[in-house]
Amino acid sequence: MARILITSALPYINGVKHMGNLAGSMLPADVYARAMRLLGHDVLYICATDEHGTPAELAAQEAGMEVAEYCEKMHAAQKEAGDHYKLSYDYFGRSSAASNHELTQHFAQVLEENGLLEERTSQQVYSNADGRFLPDRYVEGTCPNCEFEKARGDQCDNCGKLLDPVDLINPYSSVSGSHDVEVRETNHLYLKQSEMSDKLRAWVDASEGWPVLASSIAYKWLDEGLRDRAITRDLKWGIPVTDSDGKPRAGFENKVFYVWFDAPVEYIAATKDWAAETGGDWESWWRTDKGADDVEYVQFMGKDNVAFHTLSFPTTILGSGEPWKLVDRLKAFNWVTWYGGKFSTSQKRGVFMDQGIDIAPSDYWRWHLMTNAPESADAAFTWEEFQSGVNSDLANVLGNFVNRITSYCSKKFDGTLPAGGEPGEAEAWIVKELETRIPALVNYYETREFRKAMAETRAIWASGNEYLTQAAPWTHYKTDVDQAAIGVRTGINLVALFGIIAQPIIPDAAAKILGAINIPEENRTWNFGDVSDIAGLIDALPPGLPVAAPELLFTKIEDEDVADWGEKFGGAA
Ligand code: MF3
Ligand code: ZN
Repeated sequence: MARILITSALPYINGVKHMGNLAGSMLPADVYARAMRLLGHDVLYICATDEHGTPAELAAQEAGMEVAEYCEKMHAAQKEAGDHYKLSYDYFGRSSAASNHELTQHFAQVLEENGLLEERTSQQVYSNADGRFLPDRYVEGTCPNCEFEKARGDQCDNCGKLLDPVDLINPYSSVSGSHDVEVRETNHLYLKQSEMSDKLRAWVDASEGWPVLASSIAYKWLDEGLRDRAITRDLKWGIPVTDSDGKPRAGFENKVFYVWFDAPVEYIAATKDWAAETGGDWESWWRTDKGADDVEYVQFMGKDNVAFHTLSFPTTILGSGEPWKLVDRLKAFNWVTWYGGKFSTSQKRGVFMDQGIDIAPSDYWRWHLMTNAPESADAAFTWEEFQSGVNSDLANVLGNFVNRITSYCSKKFDGTLPAGGEPGEAEAWIVKELETRIPALVNYYETREFRKAMAETRAIWASGNEYLTQAAPWTHYKTDVDQAAIGVRTGINLVALFGIIAQPIIPDAAAKILGAINIPEENRTWNFGDVSDIAGLIDALPPGLPVAAPELLFTKIEDEDVADWGEKFGGAA
């Protein structure tokens, strides 16, 4: 049994997330957490809302709410959305929690003691109309390079040149549109990442099991040379910058830590809050001097988050000189695309978690998003693929199998698992099939190759239908009831197995299946890594066990549904 710490990138607070966000971090982390629990490991799955920064302030403003009140409301909305999709967090925290204030301030202090922080003065655009310093991307103006009039302060979308907002010609605030902006001097704390570069490179070199997507991003930044970066901002909402005595740092009274400095610290702070609530031992998960050296820490995130998790946050951790756990395995995802473009929260393009659940059960989304996980490249979402995956894999392959054999058992064997009969050729075939497929499935989960794990799961389900074709209990029933009985008994044992392996992906349907054949809760977890006795496994259930057909497992998605959704959500139908 291993101890596995799992985190998925913290969803930003400014709105319920879209299916692309779900597919690229929270959902695969959940499927992995469930699979590892099923394999008998000790799993802790932590997530939280990421609540600081300018976008949170602006979203609150737009909603006409105080930012604290807005964050509280949106945290609850995101928690609820996660519950709808059966995300099995052990704890879903908030980066605005007191524990995170404390820990973030602690990290800043030890970094300062270690000589890795420095106050520097820089020039930044201040908007008089908005009463705030503007982050780079909220300053727009004419590009000094190509004269494009709507260049963003960080980069010109027309010529692609990276810009400094103070160089824009005729700058204005994209928040209010006001041209009443000026360049002001401001002081910030800089984290000297450049000094940590050798240590970071050595750590990345030593890492194992990162996908190329993750390591190549880390090396790209290391090769270009790490720059020191400001970890404070001129904002009101956030974690105050304090001195070692806990008082506001002189000159920083109106500043807070940068959201990307405090957000990953919340992984740890949320674990502290989990422990406070459950009596758990948070240090045994995070402090290598307190037992965390035997923890395997796995992070899930979209590719835009990789640099922050492979360089910035590790700078904080390594720079602290304290024995904190660093990530061991990092699973990064590409994008799910929406009809040739991107899902977009700000432009409300695509399907969002709260809408998805209104039109289809969470199992359908989970199955679709995992079978089409954007693992090695971007993955295009289409309603047609959503429909065909659900109809063929869930309804036709799994649903049909379960219904055929459970209904037959109800009808011909009084709804009890029959004894009698000897295993023959068909049983030998399925044993052989499972002897290779089950270990393959376990391996794909362990290496977090989700598309392959899904394909293997589907193949195992499909082998059940093939088995029934070969065993054909309905043909034998009239002439040899025992021969029919072994077919039915094996079939029902396969139903149990298929339900068990379905649990990480489609937990609701799995519960219906396992409930219909009366598998007790404590027998629904099973070390399916053990393949030494597949023959025993497919004859494990006690004869006499009551068996019923489950209520309808999967309703097929009709062409009219697809047409409706295409119209309602955009996207060509
Ligand atoms: N909120 C960020 C995003 O949506 C992810 C933050 S991950 C964390 O891209 F670790 F920094 F919290
Ligand atoms: Zn330009």
